[in-house]
Amino acid sequence: MPTVVTIDGPAGTGKSTVARLVADQLGFQFLNTGAMYRAVAWQCLQHNIELTNRNLVAEVASQLQFSIQDHQLLVNGKDLLKDSRMEKIGQAASIIASLPDVRAHLVAHQRSLASQQDIVTEGRDQGTVVFPHATCKIFLTARPEIRAQRRYEDLKHQADISYEQILAEQSERDRRDTTRSVAPLKPAEDAITVDSSDLEIDEVIARIVSIVQQSLR
Ligand code: DC
Repeated sequence: MPTVVTIDGPAGTGKSTVARLVADQLGFQFLNTGAMYRAVAWQCLQHNIELTNRNLVAEVASQLQFSIQDHQLLVNGKDLLKDSRMEKIGQAASIIASLPDVRAHLVAHQRSLASQQDIVTEGRDQGTVVFPHATCKIFLTARPEIRAQRRYEDLKHQADISYEQILAEQSERDRRDTTRSVAPLKPAEDAITVDSSDLEIDEVIARIVSIVQQSLR
């Protein structure tokens, strides 16, 4: 059976970058499940589908084809991540992520991808709901002001956005992701929490790789 390592946590912890580099070091494939929710949201916005229209949004989720190539999630054979990283899509993704039928379709895709290869998968519910028997579960977190500051540094050259606006949107997204009734964001009981607030990215990766290696012994 392929090995599954889960990395869950709130927006802005650097989860995707960390998970990708951890996957590299372990020689595993990387699955960015946030990109799946973003792809559904992006597709809905492109086709003017109301995000609250459960049936239509679930139909979109059921029709997308997902594959992974060189750590890149391909949606219908294309890399959508560049287009879908905008804050507007992140907010829309967080809204459609509370729809149970959408989650059911995406969870099925995630399990199918993980059945084919050793994987580091990141998201909100990977250790709690999607892979309860994962070999190793990490909960990656950081203080809210630090997460917002990092995101601001990333975005300030591309968009006219303030630190205060990012912090406000982030707390709205945290609230929605942690309080929804299906698969809310929370650490799995057997997850190890890593707080990246006062660590460099190399230190975060080294710490997680060492935790995974111990659990593989
Ligand atoms: O990780 P991200 O910011 O790209 O995720 C976008 C949104 O998708 C996030 O606000 C919540 C949702 N999401 C989720 O509900 N479950 C996941 N496994 C991954 C993302």
